[in-house]
Amino acid sequence: MSAPKGLEGVVVNSTQISHVFGEEGRLVYRGYDIGQLAGKASYEEVCYLLWKGHLPTRSELDALNQAMRSQRTLPDEGATLRLLPKTVDPMDALRTGVSAVAAMLEISGTATYEQALAITARFPTIVAAFQRIRNGQEPIAPRSDLSHASNYLYMLTGDVPLENHVKSLDTYLVLLADHGMNASTFTARVIASTESDLGSCVVGAIGALKGPLHGGAPALVMNMLDEIGSAENIKPWVDNALDTHKKLMGFGHRVYKTTDPRAEILRDMARQSSTPEFFALANGTERYALDELHRRKPDQRLYTNVEFYSAAVLNSVGLPRDFYPPTFAISRVAGWTAHILEQMVGNRLIRPQSEYVGPQGLTFKPVDEREAVTA
Ligand code: COA
Repeated sequence: MSAPKGLEGVVVNSTQISHVFGEEGRLVYRGYDIGQLAGKASYEEVCYLLWKGHLPTRSELDALNQAMRSQRTLPDEGATLRLLPKTVDPMDALRTGVSAVAAMLEISGTATYEQALAITARFPTIVAAFQRIRNGQEPIAPRSDLSHASNYLYMLTGDVPLENHVKSLDTYLVLLADHGMNASTFTARVIASTESDLGSCVVGAIGALKGPLHGGAPALVMNMLDEIGSAENIKPWVDNALDTHKKLMGFGHRVYKTTDPRAEILRDMARQSSTPEFFALANGTERYALDELHRRKPDQRLYTNVEFYSAAVLNSVGLPRDFYPPTFAISRVAGWTAHILEQMVGNRLIRPQSEYVGPQGLTFKPVDEREAVTA
């Protein structure tokens, strides 16, 4: 018997790290509903929670901060990133940069907490260095007196960022840090199950996150809002997209059958941080799109997903559009590495089967005797 398409509904492992309660619209990290953490815990506290299973005490957090801040520099000072064409997708630069860092740090053997921390700490440095290099500027060295979110924004521009930008980005990083058995986390766990190294697991996960059905959607949300452009154009644009069977970016989810709780929080953040004109366009588009999706596809239960207002929030802190996916990765690496560590406890190779539907019993012919196969 074959599995459902896209493994929908299949439970592939047990985990204590996070869970999406899709019918209730809840996301839980290690027992905490996401609303308990967003805006209250820092990204660093959430890293500790995901890795260690509990929120850090003051001294545990101080030790984590010190360790992460001492691990921000790139062993090759960005030399690998300078070899890439400036036009390369930032996710490709991140994937290459992480691969190089993991090799240069000689990350090998069974994954450890220290390796998880060393890789997570360097994600913003890689992404920011690439932004500088592609703009013909020198990378900016990380500052050890700034938080993870603040230092990322600082390394992009050289200016200490505004407090409200740091707060928005930090909350975004908390919201996106883990999300049950999503495609990139599953990828990381499959690679970990072969007893490969942590760097390889994370590089594979970046590849999975890059696609528009996973982490690549927010830039497409901005493109969609650009194309819509005005309140009068919302209805004709959305109608035309749905009439021609296009998917609306930022809507729908495999697990949530009601509103994604992260979208609710991000909507409030976007209301505060965007210009009134931009928020009105985004919110008007959301409301009309939901009405139409519910009217046209009532059985599908389609709602706003995390990517819709992620775009607005990341835009408001000044990130370039093609930096939304790597910024998602800067957050999600905490979840990936927590899952890699968990996979190694009592690991068994993840090796499912497929249902073979191809031909059988063919007879081999030497190359000169074969006839061309017509399509
Ligand atoms: N716009 C319009 N229709 C959508 C839709 C969207 N965003 N998302 C799903 N649907 C429709 C599909 O057309 C399909 O309808 P049909 O059965 O009438 O053909 C049905 O809902 C099921 O879609 P499917 O793609 O099979 O769902 P999935 O669970 O495999 O995919 C997503 C989930 C997230 C990949 C999908 O909703 C999507 O592509 N969304 C847009 C991209 C996006 O926002 N990605 C970020 C995810 S966090």
